[in-house]
This record gives sequence, structure tokens and C-alpha cells, in this order.
Amino acid sequence: MSAVDALQGRRVLVSAGPTFEDIDPVRFIGNRSSGKMGFAVAQAAARRGARVVLVAGPVSLPTPEGVTRIDVRSAAQMHEAVLAQLPADVYVGAAAVADFAPAQAASNKIKKTAGQDTLSLTLVRTRDILADIAMHAQRPRLVVGFAAETDHVEAYARGKLENKRLDLIAANRVGVEGGGFESDDNTLAVYGADGSAQVLGPAPKTVLADALLDLIAARLPG
Ligand code: CTP
Repeated sequence: MSAVDALQGRRVLVSAGPTFEDIDPVRFIGNRSSGKMGFAVAQAAARRGARVVLVAGPVSLPTPEGVTRIDVRSAAQMHEAVLAQLPADVYVGAAAVADFAPAQAASNKIKKTAGQDTLSLTLVRTRDILADIAMHAQRPRLVVGFAAETDHVEAYARGKLENKRLDLIAANRVGVEGGGFESDDNTLAVYGADGSAQVLGPAPKTVLADALLDLIAARLPG
């Protein structure tokens, strides 16, 4: 199968999982990403002969065979780790990266005081790993993003595809049964910068990973 051959020997960089943004030594802001989709992409790419580096946020998943894994915690650490891995042929940004993080983590545990009813945290925007990769001097040939949306899936996904200068975006509807973050199964709507649109699934994330890699492989030269 020619789609399989196209990944052979390619350097594939994958991010997966959530990021944790520390508030103080005992608290953080996280999200419900399980990392399953990104890990499945990394595993499938390695099986197809790609040289795979997986930058993983805090998840409890085993490292797929033949995959080089780099563990990180925060969005800032993930940004640094991912960009340090360039050049690559393909980047798949499956991580659910925090969009905002505390400006600074308190070095001591934050204590409540008597009569205190509210607590305000100031959050600052994190850097967009996907957009930075897509505009990098060493831009991978294919940059693939994910979008988790509750509504207007196609419009929001195509907006991200364009704004972040991606080649493909895999969108999934969250907040519905049989899909999303913690599930083993999912449905992906994949939109291309070339105007293409494909629905993958519903299927186990391991099956979706291979189907997504087929779309990627078909866009790699030779
Ligand atoms: N992403 C990233 N770096 C960030 C934020 C997101 O690389 N700091 C990537 C994710 O890995 C994913 C895609 O961007 O591939 C998700 O797009 P994003 O616009 O961040 O989605 P949301 O966080 O859901 O944004 P919004 O709240 O605007 O829908």
C-alpha cells in the first residue's frame, strides 16, 4: 500500500495529553485530555516505519513500542520540548494545551483567610505551539492540528486551519456520548487546507489514528 510507504523513515513529531499549569505547590489547572488519541497516532506511525518522537503531558499511559517519549508538565515546557525536536516531516498536535496559565506559580501553598469569600487568579495567554510550528523556519512539511468543539464544529475548525496555517485539522465534537476526551472511541471530521473534508469513524482511537495517518501519508511526497 503506497500510503504505508510514505511514512517509512519519516520523522513524525506528536504531542499528546493535557498540560498542568501550577497555581502553587499543591494545586494546578488541568483538563480532561487522556492522551489516548495522540498516543494512538504515535504508536500507529511507529508501526508504519516512521521515526516517532512523542511529547507527552501528564498522563498514565505506557510508551508505545519504538517511540521516543519526552514527558512534560506545562504548556511552556511542551512548547520548548516540541520546538527543540525540529526539524520533522510531520507534526501532529493532539495535546490539549492550556490556553491560559497563572502568571507565576506561588512558591508556598496559598492559604485562605477567615472571612475570605473569593479568590482571583490572573491567567496569561500561553504560546500557541501549533501556530508557532506552522510558521517556523523549519516548518514540517505537514502540520496537523486537533480541535475539540461543542458546536459549529466545521466553522470553528476551518477557522483554526486557516489562522494557524495548518495543512489538516481533525475536529471532534465534545460533550456528546461516544466521543471526546476520555473515550476509547471517537469520530473525527478532518478538514484540509486544500478544501477537502472527510469523516473518520465512529471507531476506536487506534483505528482513527491509522485512518488519519492515511490522509497524512497521501499528502507526503514520494
Ligand atoms: N494548541 C497548541 N498550543 C496552544 C493551544 C493549542 O499547540 N497553546 C493546539 C492543540 O494542540 C490543538 C489545537 O491547537 O491541536 C487546538 O486549537 P485551539 O485553538 O487551542 O483550541 P481551543 O483551546 O479549544 O481554543 P478555543 O477555546 O479558541 O476553541
